[in-house]
Amino acid sequence: MAGTLHVEELDDRVVVTLRRPEFRNAINAPMVRELHEVCGMLEAQPRLLLLTGDGGTFAAGADIAELRERGRDQALQGINSRLFDRIARLPLPTVAAVDGYALGGGAELAYACDLRIASPTAVFGNPEPGLGILAAAGACWRLRDLVGASVAKQVLLAGRRLGADDACRLGLVAEVVPAGELLKRAHALLDRMARSGALALRLTKLVADAPGGHPVTDDLAQAILFEADDKRSRMDAFLAGERR
Ligand code: COA
Repeated sequence: MAGTLHVEELDDRVVVTLRRPEFRNAINAPMVRELHEVCGMLEAQPRLLLLTGDGGTFAAGADIAELRERGRDQALQGINSRLFDRIARLPLPTVAAVDGYALGGGAELAYACDLRIASPTAVFGNPEPGLGILAAAGACWRLRDLVGASVAKQVLLAGRRLGADDACRLGLVAEVVPAGELLKRAHALLDRMARSGALALRLTKLVADAPGGHPVTDDLAQAILFEADDKRSRMDAFLAGERR
């Protein structure tokens, strides 16, 4: 795929690199369109997703030149929020590998992924109020879910930026690894997930993301998995002494 993304398709995963380094990978309309195409691809053929940024930045936010020209109607279209919701709802797990800045919409894109790992230079922040707007593509609720209301409000209201170590301590990122090893570690995380049953992962993600308590949903998802050959062959393998 040419344009603002580099997309590498593998058997069990797709690796997407945001690539507008001269604009610090700011998310503009073509990038939104291309990320929707990636979502369409992953909905049609579910695979894991690794999302990263080119040139030592994850993404410096929505493109401010475009934002400046948007009015009420564009805000109501939810241009970024709908994209990030679609990414959050992708069938199989997603990992953001964050090197450098993940600000504004860039941070919200990382928050919409299931897991995040970071390099030591990673910085998460939501400076939107400084531009006279709010972080309307998920930060106001996803960040609270990820790090709790107190820290989320420090980021959203007081401009706190979370560096890699803080992000790791708070559980926002799974681990901090040298920039040169970031993609290798992200792939190792995906390898670990790829060894699990794809349908089991898919249903676990659906159930884990369902709001509130939902024992009936859990039981129904389990009922589907209990009838699958994959469960029997994995359990047979365990009982025969195989360890994955
Ligand atoms: N939208 C549009 N352009 C952006 C951008 C964004 N979100 N972030 C960076 N750019 C552009 C800059 O305007 C600059 O363009 P120029 O070379 O034509 O002047 C170029 O990318 C490089 O940015 P610069 O600020 O010089 O790089 P830096 O390495 O010194 O700083 C950041 C990097 C990310 C700290 C800084 O660019 C920044 O604060 N960006 C905006 C973050 C933000 O407020 N995001 C929320 C948007 S809602």
